[in-house]
Amino acid sequence: MDITNMKDRFEQFRTPFYYYDTQLLAETLAAIKSETDKHEGYHLHYAVKACANPRVLQQIQQAGFGADCVSGGEIKACLENGFPANEIVFAGVGKADWEIEMALEAGIQYFNVESIPELEVIDEIAQRMGKVADVSFRINPDVGAHTHAHITTGLAENKFGIAKEDMIQVIRTSQQLPNLRFVGLHFHIGSQILRMDDFEALCYRINELQDQLEAEGITDVQNINVGGGLGIDYMNPDKHPVPDFYAYFETYAHHLKLRPGQRLHFELGRAVVGQCGSLITRCLFVKQTATKQFVIVDAGMTELIRPALYNAHHHIQNLSSTAPVQTYDVVGPICESSDVFAKDCRLAETKRGDIIAIRSAGAYGETMASCYNCRELPKAYTTGDI
Ligand code: LLP
Repeated sequence: MDITNMKDRFEQFRTPFYYYDTQLLAETLAAIKSETDKHEGYHLHYAVKACANPRVLQQIQQAGFGADCVSGGEIKACLENGFPANEIVFAGVGKADWEIEMALEAGIQYFNVESIPELEVIDEIAQRMGKVADVSFRINPDVGAHTHAHITTGLAENKFGIAKEDMIQVIRTSQQLPNLRFVGLHFHIGSQILRMDDFEALCYRINELQDQLEAEGITDVQNINVGGGLGIDYMNPDKHPVPDFYAYFETYAHHLKLRPGQRLHFELGRAVVGQCGSLITRCLFVKQTATKQFVIVDAGMTELIRPALYNAHHHIQNLSSTAPVQTYDVVGPICESSDVFAKDCRLAETKRGDIIAIRSAGAYGETMASCYNCRELPKAYTTGDI
């Protein structure tokens, strides 16, 4: 349902809260499914870090997707919300021993390993537990992406992954360790990527690496995992509620050379849930100063940190007003001057009590919330609750 018609229902709840549109999520999941089904061996492991809301997880699992986790807590959340362990992959530069043990105990699909020391620890723990761990190596492709510097991950200077020059050596090492089984390669170049040529560059790099592997006689690469990164339209959420999954998956279909029988894994997060969530807040006060007009809302950087952390843009709508627009700085109540949702924002004339929607907040919103200033973590509702 159009969010502008939801105001009366939102009025019934204490703000701020997250609202997830499960209808839009269903449409998004169906769009992904129809694209991945066109290509043999394509499979999505949803990146749980984007949104771990239980209802959202359940809906994604029921649509037939797996999960990409980066902590023991995420693995636990997935198991509790119906994901079978063998549909869970586990990545992250710093896995703690207890997390590795938990993942082995549960019987996850595979580990995305980011260093040789980690590889040795997984082998040791697996040996102690009498198990064999399936491992895939995260290779740093040294491919840049046209996105915010904090969220590019595929350059040689980033902390993530194993240098591509060391790829053969780590695979050979894993083949000598008795409690490990090498099952694939993992890549990720960054997030909020809207240019398909960035993904194309990753495809070319993977093609090169696969040729090198073949030349070395390494032919047992079952899975290629290309990470996530597809962006969403933060400027016009209503114009592009469902991202262009056709363009994204076709880019891989055209440019990536898979070997016979090889599976292609994706780890999209933002593109799956980003447009489905809004942060619903209320105007507490309108404050006029000599130079500015502020709309002070009851949500802050504690509920949605993206504008403060990345200078990220989120479309803001006043659902209570149809008056002519004015220019405001929309700010939260937190004692930090970075607690700003938008500067010079064009918003329908706003009054105390108006319901404000901060859009495209489904990804990296609720999951990045904090309790700073002793605030409560935000509540979340889905279409059925409201
Ligand atoms: N796979 C790996 C290895 C990743 O590091 C990430 C995201 C993903 C998949 C999912 O990426 P997505 O499809 O969502 O772009 N907090 C930041 C984004 C951080 C992304 C971290 N890694 C933000 O709010 O923009």
